[in-house]
Amino acid sequence: MTEVSHQQWGQVCGRGAVDLWVLTSPQVRVEVLTLGAIIRSVCSRGSDGQMQDVVLGYDDLEGYLSDQRYLGAVVGRVANRIAGGHFVVDGKDYQLDINNGPNALHGGLLGFNKAIWFAKAVEGGVQLSHTSPDGDQGYPGEVHVSVTYTLQGETLTAEYQAVSSKTTPINLTNHSYFNLAGQGAADIYDHQMSISAESFLPVDNSMIPTGEIKAVEGTPFDLRKPVLIGPRLKEVPGPGFDHNFCLSSPGDTWAERHAARVSHPASGRVLEVSTSQPGVQFYTANFLDGVTGKGGAKYGKHSSFCLETQNWPDAVNQPSFPDCLLCPGEKYLHVTRFTFTTV
Ligand code: BGC
Repeated sequence: MTEVSHQQWGQVCGRGAVDLWVLTSPQVRVEVLTLGAIIRSVCSRGSDGQMQDVVLGYDDLEGYLSDQRYLGAVVGRVANRIAGGHFVVDGKDYQLDINNGPNALHGGLLGFNKAIWFAKAVEGGVQLSHTSPDGDQGYPGEVHVSVTYTLQGETLTAEYQAVSSKTTPINLTNHSYFNLAGQGAADIYDHQMSISAESFLPVDNSMIPTGEIKAVEGTPFDLRKPVLIGPRLKEVPGPGFDHNFCLSSPGDTWAERHAARVSHPASGRVLEVSTSQPGVQFYTANFLDGVTGKGGAKYGKHSSFCLETQNWPDAVNQPSFPDCLLCPGEKYLHVTRFTFTTV
């Protein structure tokens, strides 16, 4: 049985109230904000029965309003990078704002992470909806989007849906940063990571996939069997993992499949992720640089990891990648499950 409650959490000048929703099962407690459909906390038990909050976040609304790292947020209309912020749909050129080197990242300057979503209670959780107007951040079509978070025992499910009035690229994800030792722990070097991917996408120096779909075999990206993340990070070129792992091949049916398993032997906590999406961006918080978070914690490089289940980056410009276009009359559907257990 999951209990669901909510209360007002803050007020954004000229834009209205932000509410905090709390989902509580016997095993897990989750807090969700109506700002950005943000997962503000996830408390799960370790082997010793101790509850710890395992996601990064801020103490107050101000923290989330000024956040530039997408802590816990739903990212859209298109998560990840679009090369040059440019694409062509139905023969028409679209130029988005550039907000990450030469590229567009995570839906633009005022993406879904900064919207105040409308919330309503559903069985075991909360459904958040948002309307993104035609032309929002440069994207075509009015998009009606919802994410429904439900908690059943140890499993938090996020179900995304969207429809659009014009053909638009779409790619939604949740950008939670996890540390299974508890948010505020210095790093994730003692976490064991595995990702169920046979291939990954190498990137160029602005982090755009080169187009190659490279086998993980014989590379530091082979996480098919659990590896200790600290030593493995030393083998990865650049500041750490920030790559799309391919969970399926273009053209495969989008069935729900296992994506990743992370364990933290010292606490016994385990996170399992499954998704209907064809990829997962594994990001080891390479660009966190001492941001002040909950309880005054300083979040530094490698203090956490993200498993952003999604379509492959820059799919709108790469015809060999899985289709990311949502046409009028179609429905975008995406389900991702996070299961918190112990070894
Ligand atoms: C990207 C990173 C980026 C981070 C925060 C991740 O999804 O892949 O490169 O720094 O989001 O914006």
